[in-house]
Amino acid sequence: MSTPPPLASGPDGPDALRPLLDTVLDALATGRRARGGPLPAGGPDAVAARLADTLGDALPDDGDPDALRALVHALAAGAADPADPLCAAHLHCPPLAVATAADLAVSALNPSLDSWDQAPAASALEAAVTRALAHTAGLADALVTTGGTESNQLALLLAREAHGSGLRLVCGAGAHHSLPRAAWLLGLPDPVVVPTPQGILDPAALHRVLTGRTGPLLVAATAGTTDAGLIDPLPEIAGLCAAHGARLHIDAAYGGGLLFSDRHRDKLAGLEAAHTVTLDLHKLGWQPVAAGLLAVARPRELAALHQRADYLNADDDTEAGYPDLLDRSLRTTRRPDILKIAVTLKTLGRSGLGALVDQVCARAREFAALVHTHPGFELYGRPVISTVLFRPAGADDDTVAAVRRGLLEEGRAVLGRARLDGRLWLKATLLNPHTGPDELAQLLELAERTTTG
Ligand SMILES: Cc1ncc(COP(=O)(O)O)c(C=O)c1O
Repeated sequence: MSTPPPLASGPDGPDALRPLLDTVLDALATGRRARGGPLPAGGPDAVAARLADTLGDALPDDGDPDALRALVHALAAGAADPADPLCAAHLHCPPLAVATAADLAVSALNPSLDSWDQAPAASALEAAVTRALAHTAGLADALVTTGGTESNQLALLLAREAHGSGLRLVCGAGAHHSLPRAAWLLGLPDPVVVPTPQGILDPAALHRVLTGRTGPLLVAATAGTTDAGLIDPLPEIAGLCAAHGARLHIDAAYGGGLLFSDRHRDKLAGLEAAHTVTLDLHKLGWQPVAAGLLAVARPRELAALHQRADYLNADDDTEAGYPDLLDRSLRTTRRPDILKIAVTLKTLGRSGLGALVDQVCARAREFAALVHTHPGFELYGRPVISTVLFRPAGADDDTVAAVRRGLLEEGRAVLGRARLDGRLWLKATLLNPHTGPDELAQLLELAERTTTG
């Protein structure tokens, strides 16, 4: 038999990886140049056809040593690149180089956080860093998740385990879809959805919903709505929950990053009153996916996740002092996403991350000002975090949708869409700290040119 291909770790790992990394970095550069803009031109069929051309037979009889270069090039050529200032649709951040480099170390070492004997240092790192992040939010501990969706699901699961299967979710109409979906998944009663005509939960409306209801309730507030980046009035909501004996979950998947900023942290006052908080550093935290967290106020509730599997956490191993990791996740094999987070926190410090947050929030205010002073556009409102909603003045919804698709088709810009006030808006989510004023002007100009044809 021929020699097996080299491994990523072990004595020969670094030497084997180095030339491959050069290949990857070169292919990222050639792919980006071939794309030429924030996303590939031509729309879904053209992109799929080009990709199919490169891929050919996905499982050929004989291997191709050029596959790494060719497929990385194709992926980069066909990427919607959040590092391009004109790619500003979603809560889809450009990852920091240092975080991505740390993630490579995770791929090479491949620790798995389901037992100490697969991840000795990684498990200790996760315990320390999750606690530090939870304390920053005013809670006691945190679990690492794959993102906001898993965090919201875990929050509902912990609430159901604490209060029983009659638990009813109460959330605003602007809450993320993963919350009602988690209620469905967990077999909970249909959620009570409070209308949010202003985009945020109105305490008076919430009070009416909570008054006179029997049975356990879980109120889910949002700190940074997906569509508009708005923050529910957290202190008032926390007060209502306390008065009505309701449990409080806050989905701060987007807004949680404001915790790093001296200038913006106050917007999250009230977070510390929650039983659980969703955080997500692959949004306002510049991490490669995945980097979710669920902070918990009462770590003893995590006992609900407890499992005994003799091959991973035998009683006698636990008694001998080996950490029992199975109540830290619903997953079994689990990658230490905490390393890139830890490296980022240590490299930049709170002030460094806070400066990035301040930067993107300032860019959003500047973009909103550009829209506001442009006679051809209407602004939804002053941005609270880094999302700006706008639409061509006097246009109908079909035109707004066509402008967005026109930009996508030509590969010129990636803008999102959101329906608020019963109307369709274009959405710019500014998460790139390198975006400058010229690029903001260019984004608006592209939207204008596409509107007027
Ligand atoms: C407020 C909010 N919560 C949860 C999520 C889900 O996060 P993820 O996509 O990481 O699962 C999102 C996604 O945009 C979000 O905006």
